[in-house]
Amino acid sequence: MTTDRRNRGWYGKLDRDGFIHRSWMKNQGFPDHAFDGRPIIGICNTWSELTPCNSGLRELAEGVKRGVWEAGGFPVEFPVMSLGETQMKPTAMLFRNLLAMDVEESIRAYGMDGVVLLGGCDKTTPGQLMGAASVDLPSIVVSSGPMLNGKWQGKDIGSGTDVWKFSEAVRAGEMTLQDFMAAESGMSRSKGVCMTMGTASTMASLVEAMGMSLPTNAALPAVDARRMALAHLTGKRIVEMVEEDLKPSDILTKEAFENAILANAAVGGSTNAVVHLLALAGRVGVDLSLEDFEIGSEIPLLVNCMPSGKYLMEDFCYAGGMPVVLQELGDRLRKARTVLGGDIAAYAEGAECWNRDVIRSMDDPLKPAAGLRVLRGNLAPRGAIVKPSAATDALLEHEGEAYVFESIEDLKANIDREDLPVTAETILVLKGCGPKGYPGMPEVGNMPIPRKLVREGVRDMIRVSDARMSGTAFGTVILHVSPEANDGGTLALVKTGDRIRVSARNGVLELLVDEAELEARRAAWTPEPPHYTRGYAKMYIDHVLQADQGADLDFLVGKDTRPVTRESH
Ligand code: FES
Repeated sequence: MTTDRRNRGWYGKLDRDGFIHRSWMKNQGFPDHAFDGRPIIGICNTWSELTPCNSGLRELAEGVKRGVWEAGGFPVEFPVMSLGETQMKPTAMLFRNLLAMDVEESIRAYGMDGVVLLGGCDKTTPGQLMGAASVDLPSIVVSSGPMLNGKWQGKDIGSGTDVWKFSEAVRAGEMTLQDFMAAESGMSRSKGVCMTMGTASTMASLVEAMGMSLPTNAALPAVDARRMALAHLTGKRIVEMVEEDLKPSDILTKEAFENAILANAAVGGSTNAVVHLLALAGRVGVDLSLEDFEIGSEIPLLVNCMPSGKYLMEDFCYAGGMPVVLQELGDRLRKARTVLGGDIAAYAEGAECWNRDVIRSMDDPLKPAAGLRVLRGNLAPRGAIVKPSAATDALLEHEGEAYVFESIEDLKANIDREDLPVTAETILVLKGCGPKGYPGMPEVGNMPIPRKLVREGVRDMIRVSDARMSGTAFGTVILHVSPEANDGGTLALVKTGDRIRVSARNGVLELLVDEAELEARRAAWTPEPPHYTRGYAKMYIDHVLQADQGADLDFLVGKDTRPVTRESH
């Protein structure tokens, strides 16, 4: 057995400290040979009944353990904070960095040699990856996997995407409240993450494209027995990765991030991928900026899944999943190492597509150009983003008058007013929803369409904010305006009646107000007092970076791989 393995600093010592470390672990019934120097594999679990999307992870942890034991390792499962996207207030994103801290410190403090990250719901995947990358022990991901397709009244319905549609239909008087309530039960029929290409499935797809999981991890349904087998194989593989000393820093290179950006375009992935990839890149020291996302702008939309298309993740899985997408990306993929040790191209070898309407070919895409567009201008000097594949083409080049909501409370109180002075050409602006402002940059950027316009048949308008939007949402929604209003960005100065120009083609977001007037408004502007004054939320507000830097905390950027030498007793 290797004597310099990390766990020897805990379990290899024949002194009082070694006695204490081993003896207390033995109260769980582990035999002597579990401590003989074999790789100790942490199974970092975000299972929680308050994170329904991750409620299948206990079973998957058992699958991982089987694989670890089979390969001669010693698995130890440990909990970390779980982030239930649909359950947490004010927003799960406020706590992504707290999860990352929990993961980082748990891995560092305990005597493990490698880690399997069990996550799924939106913020759990990036939070776990960020934390693990900052310690840089061999790490690999097993995702929850998507729920089975939603079913209601004989139709497939998709998490999130159809909720937005149903709620607009209720507001338009086209759907009864009774039907609306009944659809709830048909939408979420099994354990697993949202089965649209929302943020969870986007991040799982990008993890696969970056080579941080085994192939097929992204799309296998949560309750498909093959996911349990994948967990088993992952457990086997992490033991080998420890032997090979294959670490996140070997895998998460600039090229891997570029592959993630290309894949995000091809799958019609979530805008949230931007903040998560930027934050993860910051942890591993990869120089990634908003401009790098432009490499995806010419990539066609291949995956016909909601919200950009019509199918769901279960269909994507049965059509062949990510290996087919990677095969279609072909030579566009950058050379990059994976958890299997070889190049990412190996993930696509032998892939076959079983349904060309679900996964289109490069020659017959769903849309010709699907990548996110970065917008800049005096309204977003450090950038904003829009997702053309989920937008209305005609609105991507537009000039109109702003109607401004000063806060989320202002929006909720007034959006359905009959005398709201808006038309379909109006640009809705929302302030106070950035990282510092809300705090936590919630998914409220896809503001509802004013009821009086819904009744007229309007289903999309340009909406501009410093917020994010759910990966399951759609519309011509300009997000992540940076700097945010509460950080003194130009967004804070916009007034109802100002004109705004948007050009996705030219990457422009301009407030058409002259500089002297803006200066006068800036001189009169005072920042809103923070909504939280204690605890983690205060620390977050004091240290969070803007969206163009991934909204990580400033003191968490980078990593610390030094050994922990001091004992507790
Ligand atoms: Fe958890 Fe969508 S809410 S994955």
